[in-house]
Amino acid sequence: MKLKFYNITELSEQQYEKYYQKVSPSCRERADRFRQKADAYRHVMGEVLLFSCMEEVLGKVPVDKIERNEYGKPYVKGSDDFFFNISHSGDYVVVVCHNEPVGVDIQEMRTISPAMVKKIFTKEEVTYLASLSEKERERHKIMLWSMKESYIKYLGLGLSREMDTFFVDAKRGKAVDMKDCPPKEAEIFVTLWKENYYLSICTKNPWDQDEIRRQMGI
Ligand code: COA
Ligand code: MG
Repeated sequence: MKLKFYNITELSEQQYEKYYQKVSPSCRERADRFRQKADAYRHVMGEVLLFSCMEEVLGKVPVDKIERNEYGKPYVKGSDDFFFNISHSGDYVVVVCHNEPVGVDIQEMRTISPAMVKKIFTKEEVTYLASLSEKERERHKIMLWSMKESYIKYLGLGLSREMDTFFVDAKRGKAVDMKDCPPKEAEIFVTLWKENYYLSICTKNPWDQDEIRRQMGI
């Protein structure tokens, strides 16, 4: 597994223009549609990081093979050993590539309204949150949110997947999918990062977490 990240506050307008010329036409098109400059920066830098991963792992950048599934997840068409996923939040863009399907989510700290809590969390997750101190609980809501997102992004199903059909077992670092009988599980690595973010990576099988910590500089 390879992880790359970028802080968009380090990007000057001039550098952005250079990167913009290097990404795919569809990436440029999407970037042009954003009203906020920061959104365009995050989107373009996601593809820049992806290209860099491809260069290192595949020795080439197969731009014409990058497609999106019906829910928007980008993937390399025809590849059965190169998978990737992109996430951005706040100042950061993260790309993870792996030899099996992967989902990544980075989430900046924020408060989650009671209505959102109701919408997002299952009874198992609510029980877990209730076992924590109030201070811990607020952080762990974001942690669970990020973990859940990474699972949805691993599946590639986006908003079509109902939040109450699976739960995250934070203590074991697993997603437990109740749509399957017996429930199917996936691995989720999660860490507090850069003080103000949670970063989660979801895969089917375990992998070397020490190596990823090293790549993240933690
Ligand atoms: N599956 C996996 N990855 C996807 C995807 C999908 N269906 N659709 C898009 N992506 C990739 C793209 O690369 C996208 O970046 P890009 O357009 O710049 O290339 C990137 O994921 C966006 O991820 P992230 O930055 O983490 O955004 P997000 O967390 O706002 O949204 C979605 C992620 C779009 C995949 C989707 O899950 C979503 O909208 N989720 C919000 C649902 C919700 O209510 N969650 C509550 C908490 S669980
Ligand atoms: Mg996200």
